[in-house]
Amino acid sequence: MYNVPTQQGKLVVVTGSNSGTGKEAARRLAGAGAHVIMAVRTPAKGEDAKQEILSHYPDAQLDVRHLDVADLSSVKMFAETLLAESRPLDLLLNNAGVMAPPQRIVSVDGFELQFATNFLGPFALTLQLLPLLRAAKAGRVATMSSSVAAVGSIRYHDLQRERHYVPYLAYAQSKLADLLFAQQLARVAHQRHWDLMSIAAHPGFTRTNLLTAGASLGGGRQRPAWMTKVMHLASQGVVPGTEPLLYAATSPDALSGAYYGPGRLFGLVGPTTLVRVPRSARHDGDATRLWSVAEELTGVALDND
Ligand SMILES: NC(=O)c1ccc[n+]([C@@H]2O[C@H](COP(=O)([O-])OP(=O)(O)OC[C@H]3O[C@@H](n4cnc5c(N)ncnc54)[C@H](OP(=O)(O)O)[C@@H]3O)[C@@H](O)[C@H]2O)c1
Repeated sequence: MYNVPTQQGKLVVVTGSNSGTGKEAARRLAGAGAHVIMAVRTPAKGEDAKQEILSHYPDAQLDVRHLDVADLSSVKMFAETLLAESRPLDLLLNNAGVMAPPQRIVSVDGFELQFATNFLGPFALTLQLLPLLRAAKAGRVATMSSSVAAVGSIRYHDLQRERHYVPYLAYAQSKLADLLFAQQLARVAHQRHWDLMSIAAHPGFTRTNLLTAGASLGGGRQRPAWMTKVMHLASQGVVPGTEPLLYAATSPDALSGAYYGPGRLFGLVGPTTLVRVPRSARHDGDATRLWSVAEELTGVALDND
């Protein structure tokens, strides 16, 4: 098991930390001494998760705050509150995500829900928190992508999937966008000589609510028993599933701009390893184009410093 180095004195934000890999990351980081801000869209769920973590680590410093990453006004409010507190932010874990709602859903800002939740919100959040991340010594942003990014493409002519909505392709687009973003942020940080790393991770196939949340997002999905069995065999629990994200967030050996995920069974399970960035995410031109589009859509842009 990956050992999280001491996080004493560090301030960390983990989005979507009431369940799955986000909750596990919050637990492990708090256990290593970090002060963790659990950024969740439903504070009551966040409080339950906090109590669960406290049962493991009674001295854990945990602070539940409301953040709906699919709502740009919520992102702005969350970031402004942190900025007003002026405490350097050592780590931001862009973990919250939704997968493949059967019907196309639109966020309050009018964007396709997966693009809004998985990419535009984290993009806006990260840029707004940059002053705090840059104020930290060796600040880091770890962004959760997915192995399905490899089959994704950015459909610039139909980014919001209005013309043709295929749930998993819309998900793959949003996760490819995460990977392009994480790498571009690393390049920007390098070019501007910032003391900031940006690293991507994916959890392989990890048994979390994500795999069952389709129903709550608008349509029940019954799986045949054989499929459930196969899924179980080719998947892993949340503890190993969170390790790539924790490695990206805390390992002194992790490289800025790199991508980490499980190393066995085609990347579905296993110990954390450096993952080859898929062809779809290798072009700097795609990353800069997507960055400009995201700035335009979110109204949040990089300062010229
Ligand atoms: N599990 C896998 O096999 C797998 C594979 C590839 C990538 N991933 C990625 O891993 C990340 C974590 O997912 P998970 O597997 O741990 O699933 P999960 O247990 O469903 O966790 C997702 C978290 O995101 C939160 N969330 C969703 N929409 C949000 C919003 N608008 N604002 C704030 N929080 C929001 C959820 O909150 P609620 O509880 O309130 O819904 C939940 O806490 C996601 O980015 C996902 O795409 C997972």
